[in-house]
Amino acid sequence: MQRRDFLQFLGISGLGFSASHDVLAKIPETKPFKLPSLPPSHQDEVRLVDGLKFEILIRWGEKINAKEKFGFNNDFIAFHSLEKDRALLWVNHESVNSLFINGTKRTKENIDLERLEVGGSILEIKKTNSRWEFVKDSPFNRRLDATTKIPFAWPEKIMDADTAIGTMAGCAGGYTPWGTFLSCEENYDMFWGERDRKGNTKTQAWMRWNEVYPLPPEHYGWVVEINPKSGDAKKLVSLGRMAHECAAVTKAKNGKVVAYTGDDTINEHLYKFISNSNDSLESGKIYVANLEKGEWISLNLVDQPLLQKHFKTQTEVQIWMREAAKIVGATPLDRPEDIEFDPLTGNVLITLTNNKVNKNFYGSILKISEKDNDPGSLTFNHDTFISGGKETGFACPDNMVFDPQGNLWFTTDIAGDAIGNGPYEGFGNNSLFVFLRSGPSKGRLIRVATAPNDAEFTGPCFSPDYKTLFLSVQHPGEESSSLKNLTSHWPDGGTSIPQPCVITIQGPLLNQITLGKL
Ligand code: FEO
Ligand code: CA
Ligand code: CA
Ligand code: CA
Repeated sequence: MQRRDFLQFLGISGLGFSASHDVLAKIPETKPFKLPSLPPSHQDEVRLVDGLKFEILIRWGEKINAKEKFGFNNDFIAFHSLEKDRALLWVNHESVNSLFINGTKRTKENIDLERLEVGGSILEIKKTNSRWEFVKDSPFNRRLDATTKIPFAWPEKIMDADTAIGTMAGCAGGYTPWGTFLSCEENYDMFWGERDRKGNTKTQAWMRWNEVYPLPPEHYGWVVEINPKSGDAKKLVSLGRMAHECAAVTKAKNGKVVAYTGDDTINEHLYKFISNSNDSLESGKIYVANLEKGEWISLNLVDQPLLQKHFKTQTEVQIWMREAAKIVGATPLDRPEDIEFDPLTGNVLITLTNNKVNKNFYGSILKISEKDNDPGSLTFNHDTFISGGKETGFACPDNMVFDPQGNLWFTTDIAGDAIGNGPYEGFGNNSLFVFLRSGPSKGRLIRVATAPNDAEFTGPCFSPDYKTLFLSVQHPGEESSSLKNLTSHWPDGGTSIPQPCVITIQGPLLNQITLGKL
């Protein structure tokens, strides 16, 4: 395929491109091929390339047991195998849109309803005739929400408390080698606001929950670890407090657990935690990335004199981690989001979604190569793996997942009010892409799915046999100004209100790609 055809295939023909590129550089100019791909879409539907189909696994408001319902704005999904053909899913419920609950008035009654919509769900699912279904009334089904008491896993109290009230703003997450879920509290300040160490307000809580429940913002912005079967949870103070997008866990060559986590806010940072243990994230040392030096810089009071001038205890450092990171010279980044480990190279990939302040509208994926390919190393090289933009046809990369062939599946997160506007004209609704890195079509980028209006796809997660891709359809219709003025009616159409759902994607194309045959 010629480059011009490739651009047409991406649906962006006629748009100029200037930079040479990882992806374009890998496209043979002469070899003809046929690949399915979708053009950009503004249709209010989940559209899939030929060879794939989807089904709704569970939707917002669906009962999961006698007392509890599936929450709002499902995001990260993690898969925990049980015995044959049964499994537990963890699904984050990141946020709630008041319009769709009980209205935007900030009464205690309304806020109490909203508190039950966030947090996460544990769901039992089972596979019958190759299809995964939600098991209603499984004893494993349960919710964690903004009312659940969750202890801090840390030897000292956090703002005079051993326990936080609730978890919310869980965006992406992780899964540990010992089989627990990690849920990452990201934009907690929308509920609680944020303040500096002196107590001065830094950001206002636009959801205004703090007016009814004056809880300390310092109890949020942590990584939460959840036991799949018991639902027991704890907040991992060891990984610091920030707008955590995700926590990607692996092991150093010496067997110690290593977790990477990004702070998804403009000009914030990328962190790495090296545990003291082979099977716990509760204690260890945390570092922040300085890309110019290629170094992970210690944020540990005992070996960081720079921090000793500003902080009395490690607990203070953990709570005010952003401030500590800047003191030691952390590199500001373009909103680090999801992190995955490349199965072909061992590199660490980090989506940098965008940085509107720096006029980087399209984002990129950063590649970090640890020294000796050891996650336990404190030095590294870095490069750009792929950039968003008109040349490649995607903007604002967010969640990623690899298949065993090293094909990189990733979703995009153009903000709902920006879709189709200004720099995002021509990109269509948010989409799911796969960058093929093996098989006959190696080097190609395919748009495999497009999302309904205002929505983003989040939480891509494969079943262990790679024949099913679980995917969240988050915040369809979030730009609706009223219930009479809805911007999306997905999934039911007509005049129905939009509903966040988890879908399963299956089909021969998925099998072809994940087997490296496309
Ligand atoms: Fe909740 Fe950074 O996306
Ligand atoms: Ca995200
Ligand atoms: Ca991921
Ligand atoms: Ca995002």
